[in-house]
Amino acid sequence: MKQTVKIIIDGKTFELPIITGSEGERAIDISRLRQETGLVTLDPGFVNTASCQSRITFVDGEKGILRYRGIPVEQLAEHSTFVETAYLLINGELPTQEQLNRFSVMLNDSSLVHEDMRAFFENFPRWAHPMGILSSMVNALRAFYPEIPERTEEEEINITVTRLLSKVRTMAAMSYKIFRGHKVIYPRHDLTYAANFLNMMFNSPVKPYVIDEDVVKALNVFWILHADHEQNCSTAAVRLVGSARVNLYAAISAGICALWGPLHGGANQAVVEMLSQIHANGGDVAPFIARAKDKNDPFRLMGFGHRVYKTYDPRGQIMKKVCDKVLGKVTRQDPLLDIAMRLEEVALKDPYFIDHHLYPNIDFYSGILLRAMGIPLNMFTVMFAIGRLPGWISQWKESIDNPNWKIHRPRQIYIGLKQRDYVPIKERG
Ligand code: SDX
Repeated sequence: MKQTVKIIIDGKTFELPIITGSEGERAIDISRLRQETGLVTLDPGFVNTASCQSRITFVDGEKGILRYRGIPVEQLAEHSTFVETAYLLINGELPTQEQLNRFSVMLNDSSLVHEDMRAFFENFPRWAHPMGILSSMVNALRAFYPEIPERTEEEEINITVTRLLSKVRTMAAMSYKIFRGHKVIYPRHDLTYAANFLNMMFNSPVKPYVIDEDVVKALNVFWILHADHEQNCSTAAVRLVGSARVNLYAAISAGICALWGPLHGGANQAVVEMLSQIHANGGDVAPFIARAKDKNDPFRLMGFGHRVYKTYDPRGQIMKKVCDKVLGKVTRQDPLLDIAMRLEEVALKDPYFIDHHLYPNIDFYSGILLRAMGIPLNMFTVMFAIGRLPGWISQWKESIDNPNWKIHRPRQIYIGLKQRDYVPIKERG
């Protein structure tokens, strides 16, 4: 039986449908609200608003559940690879061995970056943040790889998706090498996706990079955990920009820009900066806990809290285990890990964090793992972006494939001045 909700406006009763998702989530469908009542809803930050119905990722913030296309992220982290998980998100099913082989060959064939793009990398100021470089260069891909009229739309999308997945990884490593004034290392066909990235980052003519399978596995897990997260800020940006029917490179570039923010993907860099500051101040976490609780202090405990998770972020738990393993492997204790664990222990006993449901999120331990791998601090959010790329792509595809597609154009409630007349400058006070 169809469920509905009744609202009474100016004495008149209106009935709106309630829709229920496959996991029991319910929503009031207000798509006809303005047409029937003349009213709109107001929801700053979209805290109570679903922008779409999606088949890609399910998150239960109360139970700490995260599934990609129905598969728990814990199982994918244990058994899958990032390339296989990317295929799952974008195509909806895990690939057969033949499909995976073909996908891997396509990624390898697209791994080089147009040589003319190097001039752009080489001319960014040395202090340019890698996220600004990445968003600019991803947008520039359309210029270097223009649409081919002879291709069908599907062929064009497939080659663009493959180029993005493969080239973003190459561009990230390239910008790191050029930034350091080192020789750019080219991708290799004989290496897997993650091993290729590590080799492009750390191989050098004077010291060949020795690929460690445990570090490769850790990087695959890192990217799997970041691969998608339903309608987060950057994914919402990709869907919104994509709704104007702009090319996929431009929509992804918008997602990279949104992810750069310290409240979003930039938090992994901000966590390590915060932990380093605590370390520099002698390791006492109490002053930072006090600042996070102080209403008059804008300071937030980076890596804590989440719009959806009101319990542990399942990704943070997995990340912490991988951290331990890789740190054990590189036999280097990281004082920041000890501080992070102490901070977590103190915060989770504090009534403020308990009452506000503030738990460590994915970013709390991810930076420590990246440090253990030797990734430079200013590239932490780039690593998040590489991981989130298949999620952005799958969400963009779902939105443009929607037969009820609409350009995203929210309404507003005007609270400014009522009509008044223009005043010539001579008459202004
Ligand atoms: C990601 O959405 C996603 O899925 C994102 C992500 C993904 O995979 O795409 O999961 C990745 O972005 C993870 C989040 C990384 N960001 C951080 O770690 C930055 C620190 N966290 C916060 O700034 C905050 O928790 C947010 C931005 C993550 C969520 O903020 P909300 O849901 O908008 O909540 P809010 O800002 O309205 O805060 C609610 C209350 C406030 O207190 P009151 O005024 O109600 O008393 O909780 C407090 C806040 O002051 N609060 C914090 C806090 N986070 C929230 N207080 C101290 N430290 C914090 N970290």
